[in-house]
Amino acid sequence: MTLPGSPHVAYRGDTLFVEDCALPELAARHGTPLYVYSQTAMQQSVSAWQRALAGRDHLICYAMKANSSLAVLQTFIDAGCGFDIVSGGELQRVLAAGADPAKVLFSGVGKTREEMREALRAGVLCFNVESEPELDVLSAVASDSGQTARISLRVNPDVDAGTHPYISTGLKGNKFGVAHERAVAVYRHAATLPGIEVVGIDCHIGSQITDTGPYLNALDRVLDLVEAVEAHGLRLHHLDLGGGLGITYTDETPPAADALVALLLARIDARGHGHRRIFFEPGRSLVGNAGVLVSEVLYLKPGEAKNFCIVDAAMNDLMRPAMYDAWMGIVPCRLRDGAPVTYDVVGPVCESGDWLGRDRALAVQAGDAIAVLSAGAYCMSMASNYNSRPRAAEVMVSGNRAWLIREREQASELFRGEHLLPPG
Ligand code: LLP
Repeated sequence: MTLPGSPHVAYRGDTLFVEDCALPELAARHGTPLYVYSQTAMQQSVSAWQRALAGRDHLICYAMKANSSLAVLQTFIDAGCGFDIVSGGELQRVLAAGADPAKVLFSGVGKTREEMREALRAGVLCFNVESEPELDVLSAVASDSGQTARISLRVNPDVDAGTHPYISTGLKGNKFGVAHERAVAVYRHAATLPGIEVVGIDCHIGSQITDTGPYLNALDRVLDLVEAVEAHGLRLHHLDLGGGLGITYTDETPPAADALVALLLARIDARGHGHRRIFFEPGRSLVGNAGVLVSEVLYLKPGEAKNFCIVDAAMNDLMRPAMYDAWMGIVPCRLRDGAPVTYDVVGPVCESGDWLGRDRALAVQAGDAIAVLSAGAYCMSMASNYNSRPRAAEVMVSGNRAWLIREREQASELFRGEHLLPPG
């Protein structure tokens, strides 16, 4: 049986492996729910981007919101990546993993003054500024501390990425970026501000994009702006083309990263912009297919309308199905004989929205381990403690080696820092 997603997650005989590590064994050793990642899959994903950009001045800035566990960040540091961050917390995390702040881009529509100060102190490469008021505040914060903030404007190209509305960001109705028609004026204003150095332009139109068309449209809109801005005597040194490349969860056929990059570079060159430094901010495409969530079947609960397969992972561990109606593959970690039964695979959380997969044909028994596939991106990083559920443990695999990279959270850690009211 071949599985969608990564070749590093595959059956050998009746047993599901991540690289050379059998998932039932990892589940027995570390307990469930358990995230397991293939480091080789991550390394190969990033090298596809890098190969396509070889010979160019470029930086792949991993959008760490996709999976911000320290050992994942370390893997990308070792691969030479920079990082796209969206909060002071992400800045602290990536520095704790050992990143070079001079390779960090700071994105996001709501940076606080304190976050700006921290990022300036650390010496980040560039702020991706998303509005005019943010630009003015950044100018004040930088000049107050005697520093200069390098900036690019995140422009909103008004292009439909053709993806889920919650993860589409490049349309006029979205909160992100500076409107295309305002961009030249905002750049001219930026050039007059103390503490601000204009260095580039940025755009990110959405996530899980499976088509090249929206990328090319957005690129054209960005290059039009670059030309308009430079006509006013400003210089934009880099083009940041964002992230957003989709992965295969089931039957999606996104372009390969190197094919997409080659297409974009060809357009950049054809329009005479080949001398500029290029940044990308991929998240999902670097980690999504590299991970699985392993969970134990607790109970099989047959019903008149539905059969339920109740597992020990829930929406708090993996909220993409509940939040986006996302389809993620679910397979047994050990195949067994017997006719499959159609189940809704659900967790223990007290919400009907707590489901991981609907109408899935599975031959499983209580006590079996199952795996949710392509769970490397936006799963652990979106986990919560709802229902006072401690967050899952994580393991990184490389070949036949497996490291526990995050211990299972303890329930007592969940109320550390809370206070009872004084008696009386
Ligand atoms: N750059 C910026 C400014 C972003 O906002 C994002 C993602 C990225 C880069 C990385 O995009 P990617 O390459 O991962 O598509 N939780 C949702 C996805 C939210 C994406 C948010 N922004 C999900 O589970 O599908």
